[in-house]
Amino acid sequence: MAYKIAVLPGDGIGTEIIPEAVKILGVLGEVFNHDFVFAEALVGGAAIDETGVPLPEETLELCKISDAVLLGAVGGPKWDTLPVHLRPEGAALLGLRKGLGLYANLRPAILYPALTDASTLKRDVVEGVDIMVIRELTGGLYFGEKKRENIEGGQRAIDTMVYTTEEIVRIVRLGFETARKRGKRLCSVDKANILETSRLWRETVTELSKEYPDVELTHMYVDNAAMQLVRWPKQFDVMVTENMFGDILSDQASMLTGSIGMLPSASIGGKVAMYEPSHGSAPDIAGQNKANPIATILSAAMMLRYSFNLEKEAKLIEDAVVKVLDKGYRTGDIMESGKTLVGTTEMGALIGGELIQNVG
Ligand code: IPM
Ligand code: MG
Repeated sequence: MAYKIAVLPGDGIGTEIIPEAVKILGVLGEVFNHDFVFAEALVGGAAIDETGVPLPEETLELCKISDAVLLGAVGGPKWDTLPVHLRPEGAALLGLRKGLGLYANLRPAILYPALTDASTLKRDVVEGVDIMVIRELTGGLYFGEKKRENIEGGQRAIDTMVYTTEEIVRIVRLGFETARKRGKRLCSVDKANILETSRLWRETVTELSKEYPDVELTHMYVDNAAMQLVRWPKQFDVMVTENMFGDILSDQASMLTGSIGMLPSASIGGKVAMYEPSHGSAPDIAGQNKANPIATILSAAMMLRYSFNLEKEAKLIEDAVVKVLDKGYRTGDIMESGKTLVGTTEMGALIGGELIQNVG
């Protein structure tokens, strides 16, 4: 069986971490006789430089005819001052999410035991953390109407936050279904004391919860959720929230795992799902073989699990990551004294090597 994978390295460290994930998939393909077919395309600043636009039509088309998309990261200082419709983050990333109908973003924040002391939080606070953050991905402030007006004394800028019942139901249902398969606890995060969209969100969640009596539901205001995440993160199993709150809380949750370089993500909901690390293009360390490829490699594992139903293979990747960390290898972002510092390619090779050993 052939699996067509659109590969979009993008910018900055994207071009360093993606090859490592592709190599890992290549290893698995060989061992298990899966025909992974990779087709690379331009996105982000790299696409602007080549074609003038951050999301070329061919790139979106390639994604649509593929079975899954593997994305690195987009953006960088070189393109930061471009007009808004050309900015890589908005036009490329949000364009891909919208264009592929990916309304749900899964960001699992799992602390690997070997990294317990890599977190900036105390050991007993983070030990055993395993949270699934589910972020709504195609609505809210990021997609609502934007405006800029000249007024006396300067300008006025407007972003609009919009949610419909239907948009809320589909993401929250995924939250309940996910919780059902895990610890059966769902925390819905909103700002219902202030925002109308949040009030609709909370009403909708409450209504839907009647279908899931086996799942323990809590509602939490986003400011409190931010505090609780660092106070006692183990109270959370699955969190579900709207786009911007999820963007912020998932970055915060990543630090429970030691580094955002450890946080993979799956964007699902459409015919073709997209897998990308939760971090950005990290221009400050780009091109130096310093980036942590683990978030991307774990994103590839999520691809195997969610898009291709290859659970055993996904687990093999995750186990290989655990083994390499247990043996003390670290990229700079998760480095501690007494451990062995390695670069991007070495980390990828170590995980690939471990994988081969475990299947062979
Ligand atoms: C993320 C990123 C993006 C987002 C940016 C780069 C547009 O922060 O994937 O979390 O906000 O979704
Ligand atoms: Mg973000």
